[in-house]
Amino acid sequence: MEEQIVRLTVNGEEQQVRVPARQLLSGLLRDDLNLTGTKRGCETGVCGVCTVHLDGKPVKSCLALAVQADGHQVTTIEGICGPGKALHPIQKAFMEHGGLQCGFCTPGFIMLTAALLARNPDPSEEEIRRELSGNLCRCTGYTGIIESVQVAARAMAGERKQ
Ligand code: FES
Ligand code: FES
Repeated sequence: MEEQIVRLTVNGEEQQVRVPARQLLSGLLRDDLNLTGTKRGCETGVCGVCTVHLDGKPVKSCLALAVQADGHQVTTIEGICGPGKALHPIQKAFMEHGGLQCGFCTPGFIMLTAALLARNPDPSEEEIRRELSGNLCRCTGYTGIIESVQVAARAMAGERKQ
């Protein structure tokens, strides 16, 4: 099988990986770099559990080939913690406000939320619902997720004022 070298930056670290030409970005992250916080679900772009940031924009990593990330920056759930692995305010909000139950969908929702709040720090509930509509959760009924995003937005606004 044809292989290619992919050079990319993942969570701030430069990586060079030899992958089959058809390797998915989700496979590179999980299988080659052992970053298993990015989940593998439908692998057809429906569920969003594989969401990561590619150059700051959310992408479903099961829909991208690893070679498409060559020369680019990828951030995964492992890369959004603060110094000393302190929880990101979004992670904290999801934990404390019913944003997760089994947690399988959570990395994807957190990465999507991080991208939303970077672009729009004060989204309306309608904007949050629209932005998150591409990811699925079988457990929470979404109410806790929406509340968690709102709490995280307020917490991050507070941090910026300090
Ligand atoms: S695993 Fe990528 S969208 Fe479901
Ligand atoms: S918390 Fe279980 S799928 Fe979302």
